[in-house]
Amino acid sequence: MMLSREVRLVRRPEGALRPEDLAIVEREVTDPAEGEVLIRNLLLSVPPAMNPRMIAGETMAGGAIGRIEKSRNPSFLEGDLVSHRFGFREVFISDGKGLALIRPDTDLPLAVYLHALSESSGFIAYGGILHIAQLQEGEQVFVSTAGGSVGSIAAQIAKIKGCYVVGSTGSDEKVRWLKTEAGLDEAFNYKSAPVRGQLKTLMPRGIDVYFDNVGGDHLDGALAQMNVLGRVAISGMISGYNEPGGRTVVRNLSNSIYRRVTLRGFTVADFIHLKDQFESDMTGWLRDGRIKYHETIYDGIAKAPAAIIDLMGGANLGKMLVRLAH
Ligand SMILES: NC(=O)c1ccc[n+]([C@@H]2O[C@H](COP(=O)([O-])OP(=O)(O)OC[C@H]3O[C@@H](n4cnc5c(N)ncnc54)[C@H](OP(=O)(O)O)[C@@H]3O)[C@@H](O)[C@H]2O)c1
Repeated sequence: MMLSREVRLVRRPEGALRPEDLAIVEREVTDPAEGEVLIRNLLLSVPPAMNPRMIAGETMAGGAIGRIEKSRNPSFLEGDLVSHRFGFREVFISDGKGLALIRPDTDLPLAVYLHALSESSGFIAYGGILHIAQLQEGEQVFVSTAGGSVGSIAAQIAKIKGCYVVGSTGSDEKVRWLKTEAGLDEAFNYKSAPVRGQLKTLMPRGIDVYFDNVGGDHLDGALAQMNVLGRVAISGMISGYNEPGGRTVVRNLSNSIYRRVTLRGFTVADFIHLKDQFESDMTGWLRDGRIKYHETIYDGIAKAPAAIIDLMGGANLGKMLVRLAH
């Protein structure tokens, strides 16, 4: 018998999540029975949105990478690394369902399996920009939350495809990283001046593709600059996530009529057939340094609630992770 700490939702927040909405709770974990494995989580992915179906008293869920510490299941050996959705807990028992074995390339750090090579970051960016937005070489591309996990990858894929790429982000430090490390043509801090005006200055040839992670003023500003037959791939609307009901207000939607702009929301289900192609392309781009990645890592389960809250405040450059063990 051992003890595991986990992060529980104590009450559903009305608006922004606060520290008192979450608690660290200890739970006893038994030895695995026949057919089961005991997993110790190493790295937790911190997502920007809470599952809307989650109710008070439940353990937070999220992507994670763990190591099999004890196995009584023939499909898993002790020491195997697995990715799964049982994050925000130190140790747990599984019957093997929902576990995917990962065989990390020795030259890539484990964290990329929760970021550039993960379904909820790298693959969303890849499928969203290439399949949903149907990106063409040389187009004018705008990506919001470009300093974050999904945005930083989407923006760099557009650069690889020979596009002119502008990113928005929430700090001057992230603007610098986007221009000097990630190689974007331009980046701006959306907190310094209205989005619409900054887009007008930095994208004088208009926008062919907008990869939207934010909604609200970003979507409005982009709609004002969209070119004829432009495409808006709607990945998320984070500006509304802390609003009760998750609303986002858009005023310039009518611009889509005469400019014949397509707006399309998406999930990985729309391009799951591209998974193998994605893994092969992304591994190559990571290896040859064409995709740069950065992680912001908090240490220990006690820091997980802060990581969730700080992510919404923009404390992360690249992917926000919590490290529980090496
Ligand atoms: N469609 C799908 O299936 C799918 C799957 C995964 C993720 N997503 C979406 O992808 C987006 C990015 O997710 P992620 O995991 O990569 O998170 P992330 O970008 O790494 O982190 C969230 C970032 O959002 C920015 N932000 C917070 N509040 C904001 C506001 N009011 N206005 C503008 N920016 C704000 C913050 O950065 P700065 O303020 O510093 O820029 C923060 O760092 C989210 O909208 C998410 O819902 C969609």
